[in-house]
Amino acid sequence: MLVTTWIKVFGAGYDALGLFMYHPPLNVLALCVFAFGIWTLQPSTHPRTKQRGLARHQIIMLGLGIPVLLAGTGILVYAKFAANRAHGYTLHGKLAIFAELWLVAQVVLGGGSVWFNGKLFGRDPKRMWKWHRASGYALFLVFNAVLWLGVYYTSPVLTNSSSFFTLLVVYNIAPLAVMFGIYSRARLSKMPLW
Ligand code: HEM
Repeated sequence: MLVTTWIKVFGAGYDALGLFMYHPPLNVLALCVFAFGIWTLQPSTHPRTKQRGLARHQIIMLGLGIPVLLAGTGILVYAKFAANRAHGYTLHGKLAIFAELWLVAQVVLGGGSVWFNGKLFGRDPKRMWKWHRASGYALFLVFNAVLWLGVYYTSPVLTNSSSFFTLLVVYNIAPLAVMFGIYSRARLSKMPLW
């Protein structure tokens, strides 16, 4: 998905797409990084691997995934301001803005429950970590939906240059396979309701 997006969008070029050229490649990269950041925490039973996994998770999410997402979105928002065009007028745009605001809450939930021994959440930071986990799995699904809507319903840059079969494999089967991998390793017993 990442390679196809990069080849197709960068292949279309700056002359055809302007600054928009950076939006899909960067945001698809961010989603892949998020998948990696979730995966690196699963499964984490031994305390040592847990600690290392948590450190890796924070480096990957805060050091790479979120900055790349902010860059990919920021460039688009900037291009729209510069061209004096409306924001979030498609379902993709609206859901994406919602998901990115949710992401802010996600960082507060995660950081708040581990930084400074979870002081932000008082006596039971572990419970908030469980909410961070459940919310993170839900948010990952929403980001995948955002991407799918972006591919099919906002810009024809990918749909026009790809066959039905390529689109099916790259933007449907591949993300479903990744989601299957991620969700099959999630444990319901570690969610807040259990
Ligand atoms: C997870 C991946 C993605 C995220 C998080 C994301 C995020 C966003 C956000 C937040 C906006 C609203 C910006 C604004 O209103 O100023 C937006 C708009 C847009 N995105 Fe994406 N995007 C993603 C992937 C894609 C892809 C793959 C494409 C196309 C191939 C795409 C095409 C567009 C277009 C054309 C707009 C302008 C339409 C609108 O604002 O509703 N996006 N995106």
